[in-house]
Amino acid sequence: MEYQAKELFAKHGVPVTLGIVVDKAEDARAAAEQLGVVVVKAQVKAGGRGKAGGVKLAKTPEEAVEHAQAILGIEIKGLTVNRVLIAPAASIVEEYYFSFLLDRSNRSYLCIASVEGGVEIEEVAKTNPDAVKQIPIDASTGVDDAKALAIVEEAGFPAEIKDQAITLVKTLWQVFVQEDATLVEVNPLARLEGNVLEALDGKVSLDENADFRHPDHAAFEIIEADADSQIEAKAKAKGLNYVKLDGSVGIIGNGAGLVMSTLDVVAYAGEAHGGVKPANFLDIGGGASAQVMADGLDVILNDPQVKSVFVNVFGGITSCDAVANGIVGALEILGDEASKPLVVRLDGNNVEEGRAILNAANHPLVTLVDTMDGAADRAAELANV
Ligand SMILES: Nc1ncnc2c1ncn2[C@@H]1O[C@H](COP(=O)(O)OP(=O)(O)OP(=O)(O)O)[C@@H](O)[C@H]1O
Ligand SMILES: [Mg+2]
Repeated sequence: MEYQAKELFAKHGVPVTLGIVVDKAEDARAAAEQLGVVVVKAQVKAGGRGKAGGVKLAKTPEEAVEHAQAILGIEIKGLTVNRVLIAPAASIVEEYYFSFLLDRSNRSYLCIASVEGGVEIEEVAKTNPDAVKQIPIDASTGVDDAKALAIVEEAGFPAEIKDQAITLVKTLWQVFVQEDATLVEVNPLARLEGNVLEALDGKVSLDENADFRHPDHAAFEIIEADADSQIEAKAKAKGLNYVKLDGSVGIIGNGAGLVMSTLDVVAYAGEAHGGVKPANFLDIGGGASAQVMADGLDVILNDPQVKSVFVNVFGGITSCDAVANGIVGALEILGDEASKPLVVRLDGNNVEEGRAILNAANHPLVTLVDTMDGAADRAAELANV
């Protein structure tokens, strides 16, 4: 979120004004009394906040409260605004766009800069592509003095702020590298009265694979109070590879590819059963022990939207009998908490033994189906209630 990006910027010496974050409209009053004329800004992890009515100027503390009231609770690109940033209003002369990002298709880093910045950079890119400079960056040399100068010249930053821009470009590159970011974006990077450059907005994506190097990044993770976020937090705490979706058929599989195709077949089968859809992505990976299966089922069964569960396992290194024992063990661990029908499809290594174990357990909630399509159809049917 913007306020977190700005905290990160401040740590590295990028010019920013932090402001005050509030989650109750009434708290905007004290913040505005302290800061003077302010901008009330929705804090969500999405772009286009201004256009969606999420950025408003307030001349008085009274107005700040009114705007906070109006902005808190609205949805921007499907995300509910739970907090607003009260930032001192800046006197903007010009707005620029600046970013560093990981350019996967070209296997390098990329700087995107435009002196025709501001809110509509995507629009500028369409209508006047020459105004948006794309400057590749060699990963092995990065942004040194010479590269920073080249970027500033190519972007066309005005002469009055050239030196500031060079320093800023180098500092933002430091943020990008030292924080293991995949995106560092400033829009607008503003030239204020008196020719001072300041980052008035910030977006940073951090590479989770590098989390182990950054214990401080954990503080940026915000778990919202809504039910979906709670479920995802629980899955994360159990170390599960889980993503909440909108539907009602819970999904457990082993291997990301198998789970992705399971989502597809369930969505397809759901068309014949009232349009039911998958409720989640969950890959329990290779070693499907009873505990991992129980953890997965526990998370999925606690999702109030889930009506049925499809367990789709291909026995490879972990054989089907181990998975079947995992399912039986998980149902024992969960006891009465397991209350929704389970459709299980097993195939691959030791499939006969696996099926025999489930048949012998004869659990009232479990239906064994031999094929993936058949099982998807049965799970969708059970969810359509
Ligand atoms: N502190 C500020 N003082 C004065 N004006 C501001 C301030 N912050 C933002 N603005 C104005 O509001 C506009 C939109 O703000 P901002 O860039 O933060 O949100 P956004 O661009 O709509 O959101 P996003 O970057 O997520 O698409 C800016 O282009 C700028 O003109
Ligand atoms: Mg912006």
